Amino acid sequence: MEFAIRCPNQVVFGWGMIDQLPKFTSGLGRRPLMVTGRSALRASGRLDDILGALSASGAVVALFDQVEAEPSLDTVLRGIETARVHEADVVVAIGGGSALDVGKAIAAVAYADGELAEFHAGREVTGRSLPIVAAPTTSGTGAEVTPNSVLTDRMAGVKASIRGAGLIPRVAIVDPELTVSLPPKETAYTGLDAFTQALEAFISTGASPYSDALALEAIRATGSWLREAVAAGRNREARTQMALGSLLAGLALASARLGLVHGLAHPVGARYALPHGLVCGRFLPAVLAFNQAAAAPRYHRAAQALGLESGTALVPWVTTLCEDLGASMPLSTVGASEADIDALVDPVLSAGSTAYNPRKPTAGDVRELLRQAIDGERPRGQA
Ligand SMILES: [Fe+2]
Repeated sequence: MEFAIRCPNQVVFGWGMIDQLPKFTSGLGRRPLMVTGRSALRASGRLDDILGALSASGAVVALFDQVEAEPSLDTVLRGIETARVHEADVVVAIGGGSALDVGKAIAAVAYADGELAEFHAGREVTGRSLPIVAAPTTSGTGAEVTPNSVLTDRMAGVKASIRGAGLIPRVAIVDPELTVSLPPKETAYTGLDAFTQALEAFISTGASPYSDALALEAIRATGSWLREAVAAGRNREARTQMALGSLLAGLALASARLGLVHGLAHPVGARYALPHGLVCGRFLPAVLAFNQAAAAPRYHRAAQALGLESGTALVPWVTTLCEDLGASMPLSTVGASEADIDALVDPVLSAGSTAYNPRKPTAGDVRELLRQAIDGERPRGQA
């Protein structure tokens, strides 16, 4: 048995916990760069409150609020410039996975011993990094605890992670209250990402007893509460369980890695500019069906965590969940065609996540999964 535990120095979880942001930040630096996007948090005025509290604590804050969905390398380079000009000594990232990923990349790359493009091409990020405080406003990526940042090179059309120990936040503040203003569609998509990550970490070839404990609880929390969080965004228990599940899935994947759903999601998401969680939900049922024989004992345990009777019930249950949450449309409806498949196969096979899938896919397998998704077919063997 071999495994590594990679996680922040501190993770604090609880309703209203964001009020402690100034305390944690001031322990790390006096000139924070706050990184965020144009989120629901901002529209609600909550972000201004947080900024005000940080300034009132004596911090000299610079704001970088230009993070877009599925962020680009150019955005990170602009953020690095802002961090250098401000002479930032700590990065505070607040927002969805995109804002956290950009904040992490700025902190790890601004003073690293290499260039962002090299790291995006696969070289590990090394050298000096700024400490990071991360507070998610969605229950999705788990980026508040992971050592990677997913970025898109728009010129090349390549979506990939940069990775390194310096990307792990020093402090993660997981406050479910920050997710209350997230609209239903975003709640559904980000929640599907968290659920997919929990399942993929659990059946990954990199799984260990450590990641299993986290992943199984994440499967239970996200699988049991995602529908309610979408239907009733003000339900405190649903938001709390989703935030917990997302956090635990992030901790699990930081150790165990992921699988073929994420191997597919990055190239497909980049090509058609689709939300990451939507693409996860689009591929999850078919990939689970593909992996069934290779991971049958684990399907039984995952099914039990969801209150299902047997492992064979898992794929139909997940298929219905993804359909109900609006993630099962044919990719042809967003401009995909079978003519695109050739260009997608190699990036899927060479993706870092694909290497941890419990069943090694062939080029033909990937072609078939892409074709089914484009045409909107249900996983094989189902009505
Ligand atoms: Fe993901």
